[in-house]
Amino acid sequence: MEIKKKAYIETYGCQMNISDSEIVASILETQNYESTTDIKAADLILLNTCSIRDNAEQRVRNRLNELHALKRKHPGLVIGLLGCMAERLKDKLLEEERHIDLIVGPDGYRQLPQLLEQVESGQKAINVLLSADETYADINPVRTSGSGVTAFISIMRGCENFCAYCVVPYTRGKERSRNPQTIVKEARELFEQGFREVTLLGQNVNSYHWEENGIPIEFPALLEDVASIDPLLRVRFATSHPKDISDDLLEVIATNKNICKSIHLPIQSGSTRVLQMMKRSYTREWYMDRIAAIRRIIPGCAVTTDIIAGFCSETEEDHQDTISAMREVGYDYAYMFKYSERPNTAAAKKYPDDVEEEVKSRRLDEIISLQQELSLKSNKSEIGKEFEVLAEGVSKRSDQQLFGRTSQNKVVVFPRDSYNPGDYVTVKIISCTAATLRGELAE
Ligand code: SAH
Ligand code: SF4
Ligand code: F3S
Repeated sequence: MEIKKKAYIETYGCQMNISDSEIVASILETQNYESTTDIKAADLILLNTCSIRDNAEQRVRNRLNELHALKRKHPGLVIGLLGCMAERLKDKLLEEERHIDLIVGPDGYRQLPQLLEQVESGQKAINVLLSADETYADINPVRTSGSGVTAFISIMRGCENFCAYCVVPYTRGKERSRNPQTIVKEARELFEQGFREVTLLGQNVNSYHWEENGIPIEFPALLEDVASIDPLLRVRFATSHPKDISDDLLEVIATNKNICKSIHLPIQSGSTRVLQMMKRSYTREWYMDRIAAIRRIIPGCAVTTDIIAGFCSETEEDHQDTISAMREVGYDYAYMFKYSERPNTAAAKKYPDDVEEEVKSRRLDEIISLQQELSLKSNKSEIGKEFEVLAEGVSKRSDQQLFGRTSQNKVVVFPRDSYNPGDYVTVKIISCTAATLRGELAE
């Protein structure tokens, strides 16, 4: 038998990238490669990269410098760059980073075997073609992330919303949805293998759309199909765009117990003026109407968000609008960022990046400390309540404790007793921090 080569994949950026790395691992395993978690043993190192903000790219550049040193010690080592940064910078990267052998964009992973052959024959290899229909629907990802309890399923790719600040439409290409039968099949197989939670992924999952023989299937129907596989399979989804979060979708979430009561709904800014410059296609009022619908149709649903501080021309008043929107919604959790200008986006072309660095930092700090307060308040309100928690793993601090999540996606640490990861456990919350709930087994 031939000795397999070892591939080490390091993933940056969003959940879509984590899912893509699993697809890449699967493609490599059909070749003469096996995955390793030991970078020193690797014959092939792949960085699956992110371009969303400048600091995401800087992190990868720093990592490449470290890998350069490794390559000097092991001249046969192959280094490849995958993902959004590969797509954004293309062959420019081969000039700038001379020790990279391979560049592959998000729609090119099927070509990896041929590209690796090319590298073996001593050439550099690159494929950054975007595709209008690639969804990797037939590729069964190797589940390298997660603990055998939770898994990601990519249901659509690309984005055509072209928010003014965002690089994703350029790095991920056209929006396309995956055949629903292959999605349901993948979820069913995961359940049969012992997985108990799947997260349906896409940049805008709720604009999922498929048509067969003239009959459309939209996201609410797909979500319900996946949820009906088994009541013991939890279903989550990310990310939803506020423009497409319909009452129909909310009804489906409300009526299916195993669809998790947690919605990630990025607001970006609380100022309608800024939202319009961002080309988000909704106003503050529209967004708040959707929040009201969530509260009405799914009582007890958690709401989380993404916020950008210091977008072009943002005034103190705009910033205060963001602060007041955060209070009005009372987010359970938020991902918060400083605006980072991305080359060639509409904002980079049209608007000066004119909020001073110090002002951006101060506004971001205010946003972060308010969210800290809101998260703590949200967690405190759970004390004394009982939740069904899906155990995901053994706590890092003690092997006598497990951790898991509530339907609202809150992390709970609780006594292990005789439970194992994959079990549903009823837990009563006894204390909390802003980040974690602590519980005891309910009577
Ligand atoms: N598709 C999702 C978000 C994808 S990117 C959506 O539309 O909501 C994740 C988050 O990164 C965005 O929600 C936004 O808050 C942030 N982001 C994107 N581009 C950015 C930029 N240029 N500077 C700072 N943050 C950015
Ligand atoms: Fe970027 Fe907007 Fe698409 Fe989200 S919806 S990925 S923020 S362009
Ligand atoms: Fe980053 Fe690309 Fe995801 S830019 S956030 S890895 S889609």
